[in-house]
Amino acid sequence: MRAVVHDRYGPPEVLRVAEVERPVPKEDEVLVRVHASTVTRGDAMGVRSVEYRFARLFTGIRRPRRTIFGSEFAGRVEEVGAAVTEFRVGDEVFGIEGGATSEYVAVRESGVIAQKPAGLTYEEAAAVPDGSLLALTCLRPASPLRGKSVLVYGAAGSIGTGAVQLLARHFQAEVSAVCDTKDVERVRSLGARDVLDRLREDFTKTGATYDVIFDAVGKHSFRRCRRSLKPFGIYISVDLGFMYHVPLVALTTRFLGSKRAKLGIGRYRKEDLLLIKELVDTGNYRPVIDRTYALDEIVEATRYVESGQKTGNVVLHVRTSPAP
Ligand SMILES: NC(=O)c1ccc[n+]([C@@H]2O[C@H](COP(=O)([O-])OP(=O)(O)OC[C@H]3O[C@@H](n4cnc5c(N)ncnc54)[C@H](OP(=O)(O)O)[C@@H]3O)[C@@H](O)[C@H]2O)c1
Repeated sequence: MRAVVHDRYGPPEVLRVAEVERPVPKEDEVLVRVHASTVTRGDAMGVRSVEYRFARLFTGIRRPRRTIFGSEFAGRVEEVGAAVTEFRVGDEVFGIEGGATSEYVAVRESGVIAQKPAGLTYEEAAAVPDGSLLALTCLRPASPLRGKSVLVYGAAGSIGTGAVQLLARHFQAEVSAVCDTKDVERVRSLGARDVLDRLREDFTKTGATYDVIFDAVGKHSFRRCRRSLKPFGIYISVDLGFMYHVPLVALTTRFLGSKRAKLGIGRYRKEDLLLIKELVDTGNYRPVIDRTYALDEIVEATRYVESGQKTGNVVLHVRTSPAP
């Protein structure tokens, strides 16, 4: 089967499409024929792995342990292991699994996989899990959020667009958002009440205060946001920050002052994917897609993701070869 592989860390050019062996599903696994995948920021960071060298403790010190790229997938179940009860051959599914940017991926039945929302194409479904699950699990520790004022900084990214929708329709918060000029209307359409154009206005200078500031790109800081937080307000960043300072600030603010900083730790869980599927099915969550690339354009797609400029998600159309 064709898959995107990389056998060393480096720039997007280390990625290439190659023929690799098709996985054989174990007893508790399903084999998914992948129709669409994506390039997430996490995937791109995992390839270059410069800023996050410590991550190599988990991904392989000298070279990547897992050579097949990607994490999000949407496709059709092609085979099921003997012990699988939840899925049948022919089911349309979506989810997250390491090595998903390939024609086939084997996924544990208990893994992060669910029936694809019926109203979405494969391309749309592949763009849902990563941003939504990371936003959900980073925001959850600040709940209950119903009726609270929450500002999302970096609202046009994958996590940002997920956060705006979940805050407005799942957590039922009052959402303000900050993004750049080109994305203002799109972010408003996702449920934000106020949208500030970061290129024209600095939200820390408007005098408005919020219960929670969610830094969905990790480009702001607790120090600069502090005066924009209400008493007992919380700043959550998805990133460790310059010199990994966010965990340190989080620890300090646990004991000092009324305002707190937190590091959002994103998790992928099956039960949360089922919740997201329900939100999609009921019209309360929708994928945001910036560009779609062919599998062979993996280098261009990854370069674009690395630029940090994408709106929502970048999808890969995985061209499957005819079934044998
Ligand atoms: N905590 C976790 O578990 C976890 C897991 C995975 C990733 N992450 C982190 O999450 C971050 C965001 O991921 P993502 O997939 O949402 O990224 P993304 O989709 O690539 O974010 C792109 C968006 O970020 C905005 N942006 C870029 N630079 C900015 C700046 N200086 N100030 C404000 N906005 C800026 C861009 O908006 P403009 O068009 O306005 O520039 C763009 O819309 C990653 O960088 C990574 O550090 C955290």
